[in-house]
Amino acid sequence: MPRTPQADAIVLFGGTGDLARRMLLASLYFLDADGFLPEDFRIVATARADMTTEAFVALAHKTLAARSEGLDDAVWRRFAARIHYVGADATTRDGADRLKPALGDARRPFFYLAISPSLYERVCVALADAGLATDETRIVLEKPIGRDLETSRHINVALGAIFDEDQIFRIDHYLGKETVQNLIALRFANTLFEPLWNNLTIDHVQITVAETEGVGDRWPYYDEYGALRDMLQNHMLQLLCLVAMEPPADMEPDSVRNEKVKVLRSLRRFTRVEATEKSVRGQYTPGVVGGQAVAGYEAERGDKSGTETFVALRADIDNWRWAGVPFFLRTGKRMPEKRTQISIQFKPVPHSIFGQASMHDLVANRLIIDLQPDEDIRLSLMNKAPGLSQGGMRLQSLPLSLSLLRTYEGAGGRRRIAYERLLLDVIHGDATLFVRRDEVEEAWRWVDGVADAWTEAKLVPKPYAAGSWGPSGAFALIERFGKDWSD
Ligand code: BG6
Repeated sequence: MPRTPQADAIVLFGGTGDLARRMLLASLYFLDADGFLPEDFRIVATARADMTTEAFVALAHKTLAARSEGLDDAVWRRFAARIHYVGADATTRDGADRLKPALGDARRPFFYLAISPSLYERVCVALADAGLATDETRIVLEKPIGRDLETSRHINVALGAIFDEDQIFRIDHYLGKETVQNLIALRFANTLFEPLWNNLTIDHVQITVAETEGVGDRWPYYDEYGALRDMLQNHMLQLLCLVAMEPPADMEPDSVRNEKVKVLRSLRRFTRVEATEKSVRGQYTPGVVGGQAVAGYEAERGDKSGTETFVALRADIDNWRWAGVPFFLRTGKRMPEKRTQISIQFKPVPHSIFGQASMHDLVANRLIIDLQPDEDIRLSLMNKAPGLSQGGMRLQSLPLSLSLLRTYEGAGGRRRIAYERLLLDVIHGDATLFVRRDEVEEAWRWVDGVADAWTEAKLVPKPYAAGSWGPSGAFALIERFGKDWSD
């Protein structure tokens, strides 16, 4: 049941951009195909480019038809009829006024800012001046919200002057991913894990977000941000929060977000000394990924750069549940494979009854949650290896595996784009999977501490060959604490 009136239109700022065309329009199309879009729902795309609606629809068709799922003619016709394009400078009152005819009878549009954060404030002021920011409007913001605590506060304050917090939907598209939500189900819809989910039983946690792509022509943005601000501040800290948070009272937006923010507040601040012990920065140099020779980051950027494209660090959560349990986070571009994975390493059994011969076979349990490319949950368990043996039972670690794709194959098992879930939630006004202002700011506060510690410690990115798992320091980092990356 929708909690608030359904939105009746989306206005897509940055409508001709990559995100809007590849992700947002595709997600809206699939929502339409599955009957989730309200009947008269309008899609207004706007950007500076002067273009007719017909031309924009043709562009959208080209992008969508290139997807592997293919287009259904009847759905496409219905979908295309919803689209209107407005070429305008959205930062001006005149630009905002020009959206009105395209909105037609829509009274509760939501505004999706798929544009540079530096324009957020001006666009919102223009919307307010044009009378388009009413109590019923919702505004959706893409990350990054700022570049540090100060700039994010600036954006939040400016938007807060126009919209109430419950009208602002800050997107972190990782929260729209099926397996990320499944983490909530895994933890709180089973009795099995929760009693073990603490420092008595868990040895450490690893979160890896590895990408094979390089930065390419996104470098003007990326060079200002780097892996710490582009990935760790948002996606990775959100994953960490979902792993570490206390059970929320219910799935209401504030119940969940209150628990996440407590985790962020419990993250131990980095000091200058810890920066070198507990973190590694890297930057890719030329190498080979997927059999292809690829350029280094500086060649793509065309100049020297002190920006990291890889970061690995140890985070500590100072609370009762997690005291003493390291969280190792690692993310990088131009890694050997695309992999987003959370690995929960349990402690070894306190004593082996199996004798000396089996000692080396005894492996501590591990729960692996694969988010990408495959969606899978695997729990490694010790078994007796079949057959006869001398000198003690032979043991073997085997995975209990729940391949989500295979399990749901044939049941509408198309892999959804993360934005489908999130757009549908905005339409219904459900903010559970969106990031609240205090979460963004707490995440920045901690990340600023890491960045400051790096500056004080003069920690520069170490080179790593594209196609490798980062600089050797990343291995030394985790080994220093007696662990290994779960590759
Ligand atoms: C974005 C980052 O937020 O997430 C990109 O800005 C990154 O640098 C992307 O490539 C990764 O998203 P996904 O869904 O492909 O893991």
